[in-house]
Amino acid sequence: MSGVQQTPPRPRILVARAVFPEVLAHLAQHFELESNEDDAVWSGPELAQRLADKDGALTTATERIDAALLAACPRLRIVANMAVGFNNFDLPALDAAGVWATNTPDVLTETTADFGFALLMATARRVTEAEHYLRAGHWKKWHYAQFAGAEVHGSRLGIIGMGRIGQGIARRAAHGFGMDVLYHNRSRLAPELEAACGARYATKEELLQSADHVVLVLPYTAESHHCIGAPELALMKPTATLVNIARGGIVDDAALAAALREGRIAAAGLDVFEGEPQVHPGLLAARNVVLTPHIASATVPTRRAMARLAADNLIAFFAGRGPLTPVNAPRS
Ligand code: GLV
Repeated sequence: MSGVQQTPPRPRILVARAVFPEVLAHLAQHFELESNEDDAVWSGPELAQRLADKDGALTTATERIDAALLAACPRLRIVANMAVGFNNFDLPALDAAGVWATNTPDVLTETTADFGFALLMATARRVTEAEHYLRAGHWKKWHYAQFAGAEVHGSRLGIIGMGRIGQGIARRAAHGFGMDVLYHNRSRLAPELEAACGARYATKEELLQSADHVVLVLPYTAESHHCIGAPELALMKPTATLVNIARGGIVDDAALAAALREGRIAAAGLDVFEGEPQVHPGLLAARNVVLTPHIASATVPTRRAMARLAADNLIAFFAGRGPLTPVNAPRS
């Protein structure tokens, strides 16, 4: 009998989008990698083809993992999303296939809450609209009402979705800007947490009717699809602003474009869109909307931490320690 020990083959991992080179190097110490440094956005069948012989994948919110794809990827055991949201994962299909799914909570909370505030400020104070005016050479004189917007400090903020990011926005609003903060969520926070956030619970209707600014930070699910549509926009004050940093599809973008055009609400700040990277033409045409390309978590340290956590989920799982931040628990 030979004493030569066979090294087991290393798990094969697909890194579905471009990622920091040092994170690829970290993964390469543990796995056989196929990466996508050209950052091509693959169709479902292209992704399935590349995943067919893989044991795991690092994905972003762009890659849809559903039953059809899983049927073509029999070796797959884990998908690690580089995002806190995971609506691109069909969890019942992943459970049925015995595939783990992970996300990147916590590491992006404060950065994303910062951005929610940035978008709120830019929207209420008409920052991008004023900049476009200046750059276009229209600024000839000071005028008392020029780009006069809505007050932020001391006004009433309504937050829909009171998870970690919603709480971060509430703390900024209550403690930094002296705002009166209402929130609506599937479940009420514990009284101590409400006090720490300086926020009080309201029904969705109360919140929409009375808030000066509404920020959306809830997960995208079948229940939250178009949770802000024409009827909800009609409840809002004509002077109110709406900010969406959650997911496209939570707002009915066509209804929002119409409300902005007709002055039924004052302004909107949007980081996410239905069918992104396409943007509803009515939103592109609107003067009173601030548009950003899904960048709420985009600081270099935070994006690095997200990529690293997604990678560490794969490493921990294949080392037998279990995923670090799972969003399901399939029976294997
Ligand atoms: C970004 O949208 C995320 O879910 O992390």
